[in-house]
Amino acid sequence: MSKEASSAGTPANNTFTLTDNRSGKAYTLPVLKGTLGPDVVDVRKFYGETDCFTFDPGFTSTGSCESKITFIDGDQGVLLHRGYSIDELAEHSDFMEVCYLLLNGELPNRAEKYEFEHIITHHSMVHEQLTFFYRGFRRDAHPMSILCGVTGAMAAFYGDSLDITDPHQRLIASHRLIAKMPTIAAMAYKYSVGQPFVYPRNDLKYAENFLAMTFAVPSEPYHVNPVVAKAMDRLFILHADHEQNASTSTVRLAGSSGANPYACIAAGIASLWGPAHGGANEAALNMLREIGTPDKIPHYIARAKDKNDPFRLMGFGHRVYKNYDPRATVMQKTVREVFDALKVTDPLFDTALELEHIALNDPYFVDKKLCPNVDFYSGIILSAIGFPTTMFTVLFALARTVGWVAQWNEMISDPNQKIGRPRQLYTGPTERDYVEMGKR
Ligand code: ACO
Repeated sequence: MSKEASSAGTPANNTFTLTDNRSGKAYTLPVLKGTLGPDVVDVRKFYGETDCFTFDPGFTSTGSCESKITFIDGDQGVLLHRGYSIDELAEHSDFMEVCYLLLNGELPNRAEKYEFEHIITHHSMVHEQLTFFYRGFRRDAHPMSILCGVTGAMAAFYGDSLDITDPHQRLIASHRLIAKMPTIAAMAYKYSVGQPFVYPRNDLKYAENFLAMTFAVPSEPYHVNPVVAKAMDRLFILHADHEQNASTSTVRLAGSSGANPYACIAAGIASLWGPAHGGANEAALNMLREIGTPDKIPHYIARAKDKNDPFRLMGFGHRVYKNYDPRATVMQKTVREVFDALKVTDPLFDTALELEHIALNDPYFVDKKLCPNVDFYSGIILSAIGFPTTMFTVLFALARTVGWVAQWNEMISDPNQKIGRPRQLYTGPTERDYVEMGKR
């Protein structure tokens, strides 16, 4: 086994042989074993030895990195952070503890937890000058555009944490991003509704503080409902990390060039915004509103199955989960808790339950293994709490920041890290002569 091959995973005492039918030559590739998941064929030397690239748009069969942070078994519906199941973390842990776990690899003891929370709490204010950025946006700007712009702009304010080769600066940048994201997100909301920004409060926990910065107004006291704060915290846990998804891979790819952490996280936010990824929570609630009542469901199911109709059931299906997304189970339970605490109901929840029931019994969805994902129920919770749909993806970004930061740190600390640079199957014109303007 070569040095490079043994540097990732564990050699699986096994190899993979490919035969090139053009030349009849056989190539033996090393096989690597992770602690969980399928074996991985190491193709790093493939091009050098065979003069061929592998072709895998969408990376459906390609591992882009080695990671110790999160594991997903999509067939079994399992999600582990540093080995701990998402169900146990959602049930027993809190978001600050999960942040510590993702960043450091182990659950904190009492003193470590206290210190971490203290650090995050005391980094939650943003540079006052940064608040003036908001005025440059239109009041009706989508808050994701504000979040993306302001996060990228952080590099202009926190110049003492841009040196990615210095572990201490990386740590400070990580803390700042996790601590300030709720403040930046809440300010995006406040700006859109024309209310004054609310400063963070150090006597409140992370989720409580975010709710206060979002919903408090200076003219009256704001009481954080503990059930809502708990639901918010759980929602953050459920979105904290999800291995090499589109936005995380974007963060890693941007960071692989040595870009500063604020720019990388802004890139992640941009990628998350798309409706096939984090934007699905907004799209899912809009879809439920469009469907309205359960009697309209068959029409939309038919549309989702129609190959000639671009409509998809938003909040349904996942690249990795081919079983129920374990996060959706927790979300569904949380909807009921929030409804009970706020003494509200939402007929859209009944529509969602009915839609899930019909889809999970329809051969199209069963055969394609399409189940509700984390976004199917999250919008109902957020809407009940009082967030407009445009804030849904912002909340996802806020929670995912720790995952992005943990994955970015892991990449930078990896001695085998290289700039990400995929190859291509070129199908454009072959070389040809330039044609003068008058002859075209
Ligand atoms: N509704 C209807 N049909 C669907 C859906 C859906 N939601 N999702 C997938 N399919 C069908 C596709 O049409 C395709 O059918 P075909 O094989 O006959 O062509 C098949 O299932 C496989 O779909 P792909 O798009 O190839 O699967 P991929 O893994 O690339 O996409 C994705 C996964 C993007 C999540 C997709 O399921 C989707 O668009 N879902 C809706 C958006 C959504 O909820 N995204 C959130 C994902 S979770 C997250 O990011 C937090």
